[in-house]
Amino acid sequence: MLGSKRVLLGITGGIAAYKTTFLTRLLIKAGAEVRIVMTDSAGQFVSPLTLATLSKNPVLKDFVREEEGETDWNNHVELGLWADLMLVAPATANTLSKMASGTCDNLLLACYMSAKCPVFFAPAMDLDMYRHPATKTAIETLEGFGNILIPAASGELASGLEGEGRMAEPEDILAAITTWFARQQPWTGKNVLITAGPTYEPIDPVRFIGNHSSGRMGFELAEAAAALGARVVLVTGPTHLQPRDPGITCIRVGTAQQMLEEASAHFDQADIVIGAAAVSDYRPRVAAPEKIKKGEDTRSLELVRNPDIIQTLAARKSGQFVVGFALETENELEHAQSKLKRKGLDAIVLNSLKDPGAGFGGDTNKITFIDKNSQIKPFALKSKAEAARDILHEIQIRIGN
Ligand code: C5P
Repeated sequence: MLGSKRVLLGITGGIAAYKTTFLTRLLIKAGAEVRIVMTDSAGQFVSPLTLATLSKNPVLKDFVREEEGETDWNNHVELGLWADLMLVAPATANTLSKMASGTCDNLLLACYMSAKCPVFFAPAMDLDMYRHPATKTAIETLEGFGNILIPAASGELASGLEGEGRMAEPEDILAAITTWFARQQPWTGKNVLITAGPTYEPIDPVRFIGNHSSGRMGFELAEAAAALGARVVLVTGPTHLQPRDPGITCIRVGTAQQMLEEASAHFDQADIVIGAAAVSDYRPRVAAPEKIKKGEDTRSLELVRNPDIIQTLAARKSGQFVVGFALETENELEHAQSKLKRKGLDAIVLNSLKDPGAGFGGDTNKITFIDKNSQIKPFALKSKAEAARDILHEIQIRIGN
């Protein structure tokens, strides 16, 4: 749910701090990496040892740290930059007001001021403190900074009073964060099917026809689509690459026929289909059951055409946006555009082997995105990860929401 997000949890000194033990567990269970920074008074409500054990990281409180006779400091700037999100829970009236005014007299506040990531805050205080105009103003100011309020709930308060001011329950805090991130991801709920890598067409049990495709472009497209919130199925030919995002379903195949079978099985559910695989156009008519022995000086191999995977899928389109790749060496634009038409694609990504740094193998690519309305958008030489984001952005423009 939180992928491998890095969460900086700031705990301040209210009785609700005891709930941060449960909150830490929930964050860890949701896949987050958690580091905790607390104020002095928070340590009186909840034990740093408990939190360090649960978060699997030391709990930080002071700017200066003495370790085995050596003096070091906890770098708030690094912590602020490390985090994918900061969560201040519970946020006391004192800390809220300091955050709003830019007071920076402890490590937690210094981290807050240094954080570039989204900051969530979950106020917790007694009824009258919560109602006080100073608190209301602080909350409004923080929301004005772009920080995200997780409102306090109503109920029985530690003072015995009834009313607003209870920190949201840990489950509700987690839900507020995951919902917020889901809304930031434009492809949440979308299914993306990607083919990647080479195919290996067996000649005999030890030999095959293959190519130099590394699979990297397809894998980067899968990562970029998952980062946009999509559910991704990646059907890949032989490659050593591993998907980094645990949300990517990776199906490994050998031949073009196997790739077609797997891609076909996932086509109907897909909203977007990208054929980045370098599929072998031909395969040996028969694969010899035993290793072929050395013999005559010349030898020929009968080849038959493989199915065109992306074309076969595009012929079954029912609303899917289908994108192919074209690796060309001459008359690039013309060839790519006629391939787009012949295969019934919505768009094609051209990479020319003439461009240094483009195509197979390396970490970079220089692409041109061409759609079926002959809109042509060339891009500069970029990393394959950046090229993947550009491609998805072009698709996003054309599919809308
Ligand atoms: O025709 P060509 O092989 O150049 O087309 C490249 C595009 O078609 C790529 O998107 C590739 O993944 C796809 N393709 C395919 N099945 C084939 C051959 C190519 O899906 N047999």
